[in-house]
Amino acid sequence: MLISYDKDRRVFHLHNKDISYYLVVDDRGMLQHLYFGSYLPDIDIEAITYHDIQKTTFLDKETHSEKEEPFRYFHPESSMLEVPSEGGADKRGGMIVIRQKNGTAFTDFRYQDYSIAKGKPLLKGLPSIRGGSDECETLEIKLKDVLSNVYLLVRYSIFSDKDVIVRSARLENGTKEGVCLDKAFSASLDLPDSDYFLCHFPGDWEQERRFVENRLADGKLVIHSNFGFSSHAENPFCILRRPGTDERHGEALSFSLVYSGSFAIDVDVNRWKSTRVSMGLDDEDFAYTLSPNESLQLPEVVMSYSAMGLGKLSRGLHDLIRDNLLKRDSYRKEEQGIVLNSWEDTYFDFDTAKIMKYIGAAKDIGANVFVLDDGWFGHRDNDSSSLGDWHVNTAKIDLSKVVDFCHEKGLRFGIWMEPEIVSPDSDLFRTHPEYALGIPGVDLSLIRHQLILDIGNEKVRDYVWQQIDNLFKKYRIDYLKWDFNRYFTEVYSHFLGSKDQGKTMFGYVLGLYDLLDRFTKHYPDVFLQTCASGGGRFDMGMLYYSSQIQGSDTSDAVDRSFNLYSTSFGYPLSVLGSHVFSNDSTSVATRMAIAFFGTYGFEFNPDRLSEEDRDEIKKAETVYSAYHLDCIQNGDLYRLSSPYQSNYLGMACVSKDQKKAVVLFMNYRRETPLSRFLKVYGLKDDSYYVNNLDGHSHSGPYYKNVGLNISKRLTRGNEARLILLDEVD
Ligand code: GLA
Repeated sequence: MLISYDKDRRVFHLHNKDISYYLVVDDRGMLQHLYFGSYLPDIDIEAITYHDIQKTTFLDKETHSEKEEPFRYFHPESSMLEVPSEGGADKRGGMIVIRQKNGTAFTDFRYQDYSIAKGKPLLKGLPSIRGGSDECETLEIKLKDVLSNVYLLVRYSIFSDKDVIVRSARLENGTKEGVCLDKAFSASLDLPDSDYFLCHFPGDWEQERRFVENRLADGKLVIHSNFGFSSHAENPFCILRRPGTDERHGEALSFSLVYSGSFAIDVDVNRWKSTRVSMGLDDEDFAYTLSPNESLQLPEVVMSYSAMGLGKLSRGLHDLIRDNLLKRDSYRKEEQGIVLNSWEDTYFDFDTAKIMKYIGAAKDIGANVFVLDDGWFGHRDNDSSSLGDWHVNTAKIDLSKVVDFCHEKGLRFGIWMEPEIVSPDSDLFRTHPEYALGIPGVDLSLIRHQLILDIGNEKVRDYVWQQIDNLFKKYRIDYLKWDFNRYFTEVYSHFLGSKDQGKTMFGYVLGLYDLLDRFTKHYPDVFLQTCASGGGRFDMGMLYYSSQIQGSDTSDAVDRSFNLYSTSFGYPLSVLGSHVFSNDSTSVATRMAIAFFGTYGFEFNPDRLSEEDRDEIKKAETVYSAYHLDCIQNGDLYRLSSPYQSNYLGMACVSKDQKKAVVLFMNYRRETPLSRFLKVYGLKDDSYYVNNLDGHSHSGPYYKNVGLNISKRLTRGNEARLILLDEVD
């Protein structure tokens, strides 16, 4: 049993062998949070909720006399709450804010009912963690707002073998009128103190997900995107770690939002030094009117806990994503394929002969998927036109011939699309300007010469789906690169009335999920890679549909090494689309080593490779087939040395059976050839492993206590290398 309920004390306990999550329904019907951390067999409510501060009193609305708070251990501003209220004495801010009939924003949800069930239901219309009845249980608690007949259903799922709590919230309007929501967050977690560092992953185009840490101090830190997608600027994922926590020791918590649109994670330390982490839909452009009897499902949140450092925290998230989020199980267990993509070499300048030359050379470098990128449709010879007109430019390319040739050569064929977008210079926009989002009477920002289609509207969405379906019905395409290359501005839907404009952004994301759902259901065998100007939409929401996301557009191996290191905190390397590029000053061996710690693939012209580079790539083919699937795609990741704190990056991926491992080492500045050691974790204590750096066999304990001696062998600047370890009998 993973969830128990103590009727007398009204205490819920969600637990597995490692973690406990306790909550209590107090005398006033408020849901108080008690504890989230390492497993605790029991909890002392009084000791946890005791406050050495004055009692809380209220003015009785009937008698106009002072009444004392019946629950001795509650204080609005320092109690830990599961669903904080708005407008009362707790000044830390509500999770849900209803604009009430009387005009106030006072919102206060109180307990009604609960149920516990095996398994975990999927969310309707939104991506969510999957969980079978043999691996998890779900608690649902029903609450009601004190001023209106609006109900809130909060769900908590716990797994037997994963140290996570998955939370979600659904609102139900039981009133006879429309109810306006000013704010609708998915979850909130109160922590009793503020002794944490907040680690988050801001960035920019070509510099996505950089690791940044801030010491929590009084006040609020907000991690958010109001770009309409999860964005390059931030990622819907963060970690709270204790000051002493490192890769292998100490406490850490993480928060991931399973959502791909504008989001916010607020981390608020109040005047009594307690911390409130709350997260959900960003409030810019958000106001949602619920019609009578309408319900609103809000995005899911994954909260994880580790008492053994950041490494364990990340490995837990990697397992959760691979086992319970990705749809195409087969792609997780089998090779994803090595892609050769034409983009970085050709851009828009290609024809049938040129593409066939690419395909002809692909096998020689070990690729087994060819992806034809942007430029094959409409009259698109640069990025200023044709998005929305998804018919083949037959004057430029004979697509059937290319697809057939690709298959004859034993390769899978992939194609690029940007379905959510329209170019003003397109037949689609000329015929249906109202299909694009944009405020009437205002000059619309054109980012990369494009506008965004209003796929929150069913008519527009059906049109887009028809375009995709036509293409996939006509050609035998095996792989889709689904791109998205601009952010939202001047948000307005021509299909919504003025009172519903605040629904546009959330409705858009629901529309996107509907399209992705249609695609994966109609074409279950087509591999779906997503991309947003590189890694601009890298989140758990997208991973429900697509098992690979392009990590970044940068062709710089040094940039990519930082990207892969920091991405690994919240996401497994198996989903990190990463290629070897040609336009970079580092050696091909370095670029390959970096791309190997991701999905691996190429974005260059194979005909332009030197003999030496070709040999390097050949060598990598053998390493890929022997190690990539077991170690990188399905193995356990150990971060060994941080490029943010030292001159080196060190990471190891160990196969689940601990029989082999691949270590990535990168040196940034040139070093003198002094003795340096890289300790490797994750190996068996009672086994020996031979490594291909010094050719010696060492025991598991030797690797973790002494390490690989990398002196002299790896001293040049910006040089990366893969080191292979194999168990010996
Ligand atoms: C985006 C992608 C690139 C490429 C171009 C094509 O920038 O990130 O990989 O597909 O679009 O226009």
